[in-house]
Amino acid sequence: MPALVLLGAQWGDEGKGKATDLLGGSVDYVVRYQGGNNAGHTVVVGDQKYALHLLPSGILSPGCTPVIGNGVVVDPSVLLSELSGLNERGVDTSKLLISGNAHIITPYNVTVDKVTERFLGKRKIGTTGRGIGPTYADKINRVGIRVQDLYDESILTQKVEAALDVKNQLLTKLYNRRAIAVDQVVEELLGYAEKLAPFVADTVLVLNQALEDDKVVLFEGGQGTLLDIDHGTYPFVTSSNPTAGGACTGAGVGPTKISRVIGILKAYTTRVGAGPFPTELFDEDGEALRRIGHERGVTTGRDRRCGWFDAVIARYATRVNGLTDFFLTKLDVLTGWEQIPVCVAYEIDGKRVEELPYSQSDFHHAKPIYETLPGWSEDITSAKSFSDLPKNAQAYVKALEEMSGAPISAIGVGPGRDETIEINSFI
Ligand code: GDP
Ligand code: IMO
Ligand code: MG
Repeated sequence: MPALVLLGAQWGDEGKGKATDLLGGSVDYVVRYQGGNNAGHTVVVGDQKYALHLLPSGILSPGCTPVIGNGVVVDPSVLLSELSGLNERGVDTSKLLISGNAHIITPYNVTVDKVTERFLGKRKIGTTGRGIGPTYADKINRVGIRVQDLYDESILTQKVEAALDVKNQLLTKLYNRRAIAVDQVVEELLGYAEKLAPFVADTVLVLNQALEDDKVVLFEGGQGTLLDIDHGTYPFVTSSNPTAGGACTGAGVGPTKISRVIGILKAYTTRVGAGPFPTELFDEDGEALRRIGHERGVTTGRDRRCGWFDAVIARYATRVNGLTDFFLTKLDVLTGWEQIPVCVAYEIDGKRVEELPYSQSDFHHAKPIYETLPGWSEDITSAKSFSDLPKNAQAYVKALEEMSGAPISAIGVGPGRDETIEINSFI
């Protein structure tokens, strides 16, 4: 019954898509359990590059069943266009399963996301503008629309009415926008029903039966630990739980079923959107990381903020997720630096602090304390085993492992499936 969780250990974009795709060949199910099309997962297979937003990265592995769990928020228009884009490229998407309990990102939720951000002005979160926060807010407020509602017109109409009741007041009276018509929304949503019908399933039952049958299930997180609504740098977070516990609620699988939790960890740090980021660089090194690492958002096209590796964050990710392993990505990007600083602790108001501070104000004041490790200049992109790496690259990996609190079981040395050093097998 091996169930594995694969999640981001930092602020997202750690290379989860590549890691999931790599394991896709050996697992039976790949399940997205939270988030929506705010995610952008790049997968490179041979000379083909895929940008996935909502679909689990396992969709590219023929033997694997991709699942969108109940914890995900689904924008049907995005889903259908992602599916047809893949079909045009010859990818079979017929095995996809979508939970009937997943919530739908309605057009008004996308509008509310955008107007709220505009209204916040300089206090904005820098969301992806995909309607994620308002859709989860509706879910919690019990005025959300679920996939199963598309199959009962009368219920759907009542629910859209209930949701728009308050929202139209907000849109017209506070945001100075036009009201959104109930029947227009209902008509649009009903238009998706038939196209989605073949995929809708009781995914909780399917996944638990699969685990009983000893199938391998991989839960693929979107976003990352520090973007978690409970454990991240609130309020500069997303509106779901990318951390390991989210896999249980977002897929309906008990924690006793999960045997391995893999944290995807970039060899340096990036962040998109607003919020604190202690090791952020504003100099040529930051520019170089962005350029060499191609650090530009897959979803929004925004430049990612870049900085050195932060071991305090990595330790925190180990703790809140119960990580059993790390998959270290993008080590190749660091090739060419003579010295590589690594943040080992913070200085907060004159005091050395080893662990992520509990108080938001403290975290905003945290200054990185660096240790400098020697770099390497040899090209490492064709390294196949740990011993193929230059001595200083080996020492860098070992130092990160020591500081981060879980074994590094794989190392990414390039974007391709093959550009990976596997140290301990995951399955
Ligand atoms: P995700 O959101 O966690 O799936 O990550 P993204 O796809 O948004 O960003 C990671 C980027 O790094 C993608 O362009 C990947 O193709 C690329 N990538 C992943 N692993 C490696 C690696 O080990 N080395 C290099 N150079 N690129 C990588
Ligand atoms: P993947 O899965 C990086 C960030 C946004 C913003 C905050 C809230 O590719 O790692 P939201 O639209 O979710 O309400 O925005 O979260 N964010 C991400 N940053 N990678 C992602 O996904 C992200 N998804 C959301 O930039 O700061
Ligand atoms: Mg991404």
